[in-house]
Amino acid sequence: MTSDTVERLLSDLTLAEKVRLTHGATDTDGTATGFVPGVERLDIPPVRFSDGPLGVRTDEPATAFPASTALSASFDPELAREFGRTLGREALARNQDVLLGPGLNLVRVPHCGRNFEYYSEDPVATGRFAAAVVDGIESTGVVATPKHFVANNQETARATVSAEVDERVLRELYLPGFRDAVDAGAGAVMSSYNRVNGTYMSEHGELLTEVLKDEWGFDGVVMSDWFGTESVVGTANGGLDLQMPGISAEELFESMGAPGDEGDAERAGEEGGAPDAASDDPTEGFDYADGMPDPTTGGLYREELADAVEAGEVPESRLDDMVRRLLTQLDRHGLLGGDRDATDSEGAVDTPEHRDLAERIATRGTILLDNDGVLPLADDADVAVVGPNVDEAILGGGGSSEVTPVTETSPVEGIEARAEGSVSVARGHPRVEDISLFDAFEPDDGADEDAPDASVDDAVAAAEDADVALVFVRDQATEAADRETLALPGDQDELIEAVAAANDRTVVVANTSGPFETPWREDVAAVVASWYPGQSHGSAAAAVLYGDSDPGGRLPVTFAPEEAYPTADERRFPGVDGEASYDEGLLVGYRHFDATDAEPTYPFGHGRSYATFEYRDAEAVDDATVAVTVENTADRSGRTVVQAYVDSPAAPDDLERPPRELGGFASLALDAGESRRVSIDLDERAFGRYDAEAGWTVDSGDHVVSIGPSSRDRPLDVTIER
Ligand code: BGC
Repeated sequence: MTSDTVERLLSDLTLAEKVRLTHGATDTDGTATGFVPGVERLDIPPVRFSDGPLGVRTDEPATAFPASTALSASFDPELAREFGRTLGREALARNQDVLLGPGLNLVRVPHCGRNFEYYSEDPVATGRFAAAVVDGIESTGVVATPKHFVANNQETARATVSAEVDERVLRELYLPGFRDAVDAGAGAVMSSYNRVNGTYMSEHGELLTEVLKDEWGFDGVVMSDWFGTESVVGTANGGLDLQMPGISAEELFESMGAPGDEGDAERAGEEGGAPDAASDDPTEGFDYADGMPDPTTGGLYREELADAVEAGEVPESRLDDMVRRLLTQLDRHGLLGGDRDATDSEGAVDTPEHRDLAERIATRGTILLDNDGVLPLADDADVAVVGPNVDEAILGGGGSSEVTPVTETSPVEGIEARAEGSVSVARGHPRVEDISLFDAFEPDDGADEDAPDASVDDAVAAAEDADVALVFVRDQATEAADRETLALPGDQDELIEAVAAANDRTVVVANTSGPFETPWREDVAAVVASWYPGQSHGSAAAAVLYGDSDPGGRLPVTFAPEEAYPTADERRFPGVDGEASYDEGLLVGYRHFDATDAEPTYPFGHGRSYATFEYRDAEAVDDATVAVTVENTADRSGRTVVQAYVDSPAAPDDLERPPRELGGFASLALDAGESRRVSIDLDERAFGRYDAEAGWTVDSGDHVVSIGPSSRDRPLDVTIER
């Protein structure tokens, strides 16, 4: 799809001007993560790009939303659409045109440092959230950039590792989320740093051009990840349209603030790390670890692309295609020959509605993993609030997704505002510091040893005197590094054990990027997972713990001991000799645990409500829809997530199929005693399998659809014959 305006501009642009539109440049205002200057004489405006998945990251504050995993734990794509629209509005208010998100890589490796930026281990769940967020963002006139295309499932050696993965597995697991995001109207896609089957993604013609553009009809821009362009001719001919950031690391840091300027470190999302503020060279002292790309490749398209076009190594028609794609997106959102006002969306940041949405996502994404009845808390309970970081909101993990909020509530503030009984506070453990892209290379034991006021004895004393002890614990995760272990950092497990020994009504609330180990599970009264809850940490925690909100979340990833995941084999993660073998094939996440009959700690889809539900009368409405009646049998309102899994007939030639695959889901809020009939649309891909010759193929026979509130609790079966 292209317009007359775009074609006219293309014929008016000189070669040099066209090349200028294929790479980033220094942002003169220093507000954006990426910047492409326009062409003033032709009224092509400058384009500003901002991270990211959890909120808008510029030099000014914005709403800091919960982790993407919290959003997907809601199992409610409508909430995700509202989130996308809100993110778009915040981007507009900050004068940004392109959002660098959503992140939608599959959670293949539970240790991955960026899991908090991603949705799920399941492709259908990932695709539904990706599509809803993209649709929401694009509806405001802002371009969405699903990332990182594709198979960027680990941070260790992310700039070089080759994902060795066969086509069927790519098609069934790793590509569908991107396909859904493209179908939902994404105007850009970011290529990933890693290689796939030996070829860098920035020059992967088969995936960028043949699959994404030709087969899926993607007419938007393929942009590189920052410093993730490996060559000029190879990437241009492979399908890369825009090289980012288009400048050197040195120029990038300078544009973010002069060396030594405080804002510099802040905007880079770190404190006192690189770049070296005392030096004239802002990149000096920067330790480029293997999770980081080569920073010298930033400006490749600047000089060399024009030469390659003139030498005939890159056809001019390809250069036109690169520019056409960018102009088409600007045209689509009314940005050519006009300005932002031409769109009918209004920008706004940090409105009461946005704050409310941030809190709603946090509560809807909170998962009650275990509860022996201690929750919800009585209003007048005397509560001990314990934990290394109880006086701060956990906003997110480290790296490009960091957002600075206008306002935040800590767990202590949230509980104090809600409690009618007494509240005592004892950290019990040295603060567990945030880690960032820059200091990830020197991981510590997770604890700030200098913190004076943190003794286990104080925590135990507070717990002994209280009716209930709430222990808030956390992990550390960042872009550019993977978590070394799924155990909680420092001595937090010991803290939990000590508090649980002092008070048998101990509740653990974990703020983590993904699965964590629970060696104390049998010793505590309740376990809550609330990811990185963002700016409303304290108020959302209080709302769920006191039962003002039902814990709406269900697990979008399986929780298990780390050795139980298929990626416990080092050939698969982090890989050997530069290659990560994906030979677990389709058996990722719950597919693996189901196929091997292994018992997860908490299965995919699991999460408790304060209410109870009965599922009955399941039937097939047609060959891709099932219906079921759900009744809230409790005397309080609550939420259940209806999940439908498809078990397809055996494929010919003994081709492996996972025992069952998520086909569809719906999150239902029901009042006490209320029942409702709900229809679930099943994704065609849950019935099918990808055949290299024939494409998506549905085997004929009985497809058994089992329905229930978790992947391991499916009381009803319906058979669909295909
Ligand atoms: C990340 C991207 C991000 C980009 C710009 C890279 O390090 O991988 O997700 O959008 O930086 O900040």
